[in-house]
Amino acid sequence: IKRIVVAEDMGKSMVGQTVSLCGWVKTAREADKGKLYFIQLNDGSIPLDIQVVIDSSAKGFDSLKGQVGTGASLKCVGKIVESPGKNQAVELLVKEPGTEVVLFGGVDAKEYPLSKKGHSHEFLRSIAHLRPRSNLIGSVARVRAALAQATHEFFRSNGFLYVHTPLITAADCEGAGEMFQVTTMMMDAEKDGKPLPMVGGKFDYSKDFFQKPAFLTVSGQLSVENYCCSLSKVYTFGPTFRAENSHTSRHLAEFWMIEPELAFADIFDDMTLAEDYLKYCVKYAMVHNRADLEFFEDKIEKGLIKRLENLLAEPFARLTYTEAIKILQDESPKAGFQVPVEWGIDLGSEHERYLAEKVYKKPVILYNYPKDIKAFYMRLNEDNKTVAAMDVLAPAIGEVIGGSQREERLDVLDRRITEMGLEPKDYWWYRDLRRFGSVPHSGFGLGFERLIMLTTGIENIRDVIPYPRYPGHADC
Ligand code: 4AD
Ligand code: MG
Repeated sequence: IKRIVVAEDMGKSMVGQTVSLCGWVKTAREADKGKLYFIQLNDGSIPLDIQVVIDSSAKGFDSLKGQVGTGASLKCVGKIVESPGKNQAVELLVKEPGTEVVLFGGVDAKEYPLSKKGHSHEFLRSIAHLRPRSNLIGSVARVRAALAQATHEFFRSNGFLYVHTPLITAADCEGAGEMFQVTTMMMDAEKDGKPLPMVGGKFDYSKDFFQKPAFLTVSGQLSVENYCCSLSKVYTFGPTFRAENSHTSRHLAEFWMIEPELAFADIFDDMTLAEDYLKYCVKYAMVHNRADLEFFEDKIEKGLIKRLENLLAEPFARLTYTEAIKILQDESPKAGFQVPVEWGIDLGSEHERYLAEKVYKKPVILYNYPKDIKAFYMRLNEDNKTVAAMDVLAPAIGEVIGGSQREERLDVLDRRITEMGLEPKDYWWYRDLRRFGSVPHSGFGLGFERLIMLTTGIENIRDVIPYPRYPGHADC
């Protein structure tokens, strides 16, 4: 008997076939004085529950009594029939002969935290281990997986090589000091009863494992740049960590980032790559996750699909930081920004969103930012005031991508490192790239969770990653 998946096999063409379907009960209702069960079953392949009608003649029927509440797991062997109900085209009828129901795990209805009624996103967050049972988080998980797939497809088909960069590092890529330090629980480790050799006595693992302070990486960029300046087109895709204020709906302490790096390329090549990649991802979800996007359209953001279609339809706006400041200043009386706009400020999400939502009504790429608000590795422009940085700002989210052309001139790089209060010697290997066959190159980082927010309309970043990490939350 064929074991089916709802997303693929539960259509009219299957009527008359006997199949096996496994899943979790959303709701169960007894009818006909206990001789029938009407069950809404979900198998996790689609945000749609399938009606299963179980007749008392089916093998295993008696095991359901008192056990088949919301959350129970079942295997149902039955026949696909046209549904008399108007909510679905087909349903599964489990009725003799040759049918069966198997209860894998029952639930105590009083204990199970999920019920038929919708739950708030906050509540679901408090049960991160069970929330993938909700249609919302199920759809997020599918879109997330699809966007990861799209990422690899896009870069692979454009000739980029996937490079794994380390998570533990001594270098602070952004120079912002927002790193988590790595230590160990093993103190004064010994091997075969003898202390491990170490200059000056015992080996203290927590201090000496790496022989210098080591941290969880804030970005794979510096490491991937080395590979870029050997292999030309590369990208990395992995978790990154920031000990910054994560008490917002757009920041996490642990998030995933995609970072391509392109040799012999300037800031404009970088923008084109960013736009092409973002559009590829959105289009991929529209083709492969239609049911999930329709679910989000219905439950999260009316107009989502139209917004995504618009994003694909037109080129993103491109303007310099200086031009954007001028526009924002002109708009200030109307917009009433909390933080006043003047040249030199680090734009807040209120400014970024205003540009994308109100002024352009589509994604905007800002470039040539003041050097004082950007990282040391960004290429200094001729004006000596700005750097060749670019951010992609999207409606409803703000910054989704941050990137730049990299400083390839050693003397300028050293000056910038020093200006920013950092030590050139800490970046010795990064400097080597500028000593040996330096080339113009550019790259960017896309915050994967922000891409998922953009694609689903979900407003809190904590709901687009399976196990969000933010202050006070590292448990489940
Ligand atoms: O702008 P950022 O800090 O750029 C970098 O890390 C560069 N090294 C990237 C590069 O050029 N290779 O971060 C890039 C993106 C942001 O645009 C944002 O989407 C996301 O990463 N991001 C965060 N996402 C979730 N939580 C946080 N705390 C984030 N910080 C940045
Ligand atoms: Mg940034």
